Amino acid sequence: MSEWLKKYRENHADFDKGESLTDLGSNPFTAFSRWFDEAVQNGEVEANAFVLSTATAEEGVSSRIVYLKELKDERFVFYTNYLSQKGRQMAAHPHVSMLFFWPGLQRQLRIEGTVEKVSGEVSDAYFASRPRESQLGAWASQQSSELAQAEDLIAAFEKYDRQFPNEVPRPPHWGGYAIQATSIEFWQGRPSRLHDRVVFQFHENTWKQIRKNP
Ligand SMILES: Cc1cc2nc3c(=O)[nH]c(=O)nc-3n(C[C@H](O)[C@H](O)[C@H](O)COP(=O)(O)O)c2cc1C
Repeated sequence: MSEWLKKYRENHADFDKGESLTDLGSNPFTAFSRWFDEAVQNGEVEANAFVLSTATAEEGVSSRIVYLKELKDERFVFYTNYLSQKGRQMAAHPHVSMLFFWPGLQRQLRIEGTVEKVSGEVSDAYFASRPRESQLGAWASQQSSELAQAEDLIAAFEKYDRQFPNEVPRPPHWGGYAIQATSIEFWQGRPSRLHDRVVFQFHENTWKQIRKNP
């Protein structure tokens, strides 16, 4: 070990507490699941919230937070309104990025990929698991379109509450998207900006792992 590295380790007692990124293994989804579980165990606030960025040539880029609901068949699933700004943008341009930040662990996870809608059955099952108020909210909100006055949202909510006294069906404009990753980057913060960046890139049907300068 170099003299400098020896001193660095002595000066930064926390150096070895961080993940040794060489231990990520060869499957990025297994590594993702482990980091996600560790974020939850570490008490990260809203560990499943991520920044979703979408873009079109006409409108440019836009970002917002959504919740990751599931990692299924190696695809990242979230739910939203298909007619929202993000929904329109993803229909026009299916390339998106996802960004998680878990500050307590000094970790950032950056994912790029393509998105498609999940099946109606999958969306139905998830919608049916939601509380009644959330279901009515999905009907009441014309997400991203202009709301003339706040009361209109309440009135719409009450209207659907009366319209669906029993089971609330899933609105046709509401459902899930699944993101198929083409790149997944694991970033572990280290002292003195000697951060570790490991990027898995999907290339010729296999995941390749490279390291990047921080
Ligand atoms: C913590 C948090 C979680 C959110 N989760 C979702 C979500 O899962 N789905 C969703 O459609 N919007 C969610 N939102 C609201 C979005 O950030 C956004 O305001 C909304 O989807 C409209 O975005 P758009 O106009 O860009 O389409 C969440 C917001 C926050 C702050």
